[in-house]
Amino acid sequence: MALPTETVYGLAALADDPAAVEKIFVAKRRPVDHPLIVHLPSADHMSAWAEEIPDTAYRLAEQFWPGPLTLLLKKKADVASIVTGGKETVAVRVPSHPLFLSILQRLDKGLAAPSANLYKQLSPTTAEQALQSLSGRIAAVLDGGPCEFGLESTILNLIAESPEILRAGPVSRGRIESVIGGPVHMPISHDVAVPGNVESHYQPKTPLQMMAAEQMATNSINSRSGYLVWSSKAVSMLDGAPLDGTTNGTTHIRQLSEDPLLYGRDLYRSLYELDQLDLDCIIVETPPGSEIWMAVNDRLRRAAN
Ligand code: TXA
Ligand code: MG
Repeated sequence: MALPTETVYGLAALADDPAAVEKIFVAKRRPVDHPLIVHLPSADHMSAWAEEIPDTAYRLAEQFWPGPLTLLLKKKADVASIVTGGKETVAVRVPSHPLFLSILQRLDKGLAAPSANLYKQLSPTTAEQALQSLSGRIAAVLDGGPCEFGLESTILNLIAESPEILRAGPVSRGRIESVIGGPVHMPISHDVAVPGNVESHYQPKTPLQMMAAEQMATNSINSRSGYLVWSSKAVSMLDGAPLDGTTNGTTHIRQLSEDPLLYGRDLYRSLYELDQLDLDCIIVETPPGSEIWMAVNDRLRRAAN
């Protein structure tokens, strides 16, 4: 069953029931060596799934749970290998969406849940989008409205010598460092540690191209292209650019926020909406390169690949 979390919709199964977890892989057409995140009712449950849990894990949990931070820990021997993709590690988090959290609390157990989409597709941030991807392949989706963050959780590896971020997300490196009281690394290439971080991922069906605002003006506006922009400069560029013969006045432009958190919240939904229009191309204005845009830039890079 697909359930809303504060990040994206997840496809959940009891994490201690390997037969149920296996159905997730079938429904998503996901390779079985891709491990799943175990969602817990509270930090107290960590010790049922992981061992040798460092003190930092509890401090981070105290600060960020329930919320969009996933911790990678050493798994306990009895955790099913289908959950961990055969690895010695387990990823855990306590989600903050009230519906998901209340289900976890009533079960008093862990739920394994990847994003509720077919492998490599865009993660759903609405119930409609989850159904679009998985209708006929899952029993139901619980509609909890649009997701608060819209991008997947930050994944922090606490097994490495020093903590490292494996997937950028809503909880920034700076906030983690301030709790840990030391540096947190962000390896650029970490495909081995996180198989889900393959180079092409989070993809709409329509080809996607990144472009600076200036570049947009040098091409004529085309009704077969969708435009995803964030700066007022890009909007005025598009306003002033010549229309090619095919437009009939129709242009598909979506403007997202200049605030990276709000941009992230609306990104997948906007890409999904443009994808539904069966265009030839989606042109995305390149976001700023600063660290607060890291999670957004990471997803866009993979979507464009
Ligand atoms: O926000 C989120 O994290 C959402 C919601 C539903 O909680 N979940 C999510 O799950 O994005 P998924 O499966 O789409 O991405 C989980 C990522 C994958 O890249 C996977 O490889 C990595 O977490 N992961 C999970 N367990 C791991 C492990 N034991 N070792 C290394 N990577 C792991
Ligand atoms: Mg996913």
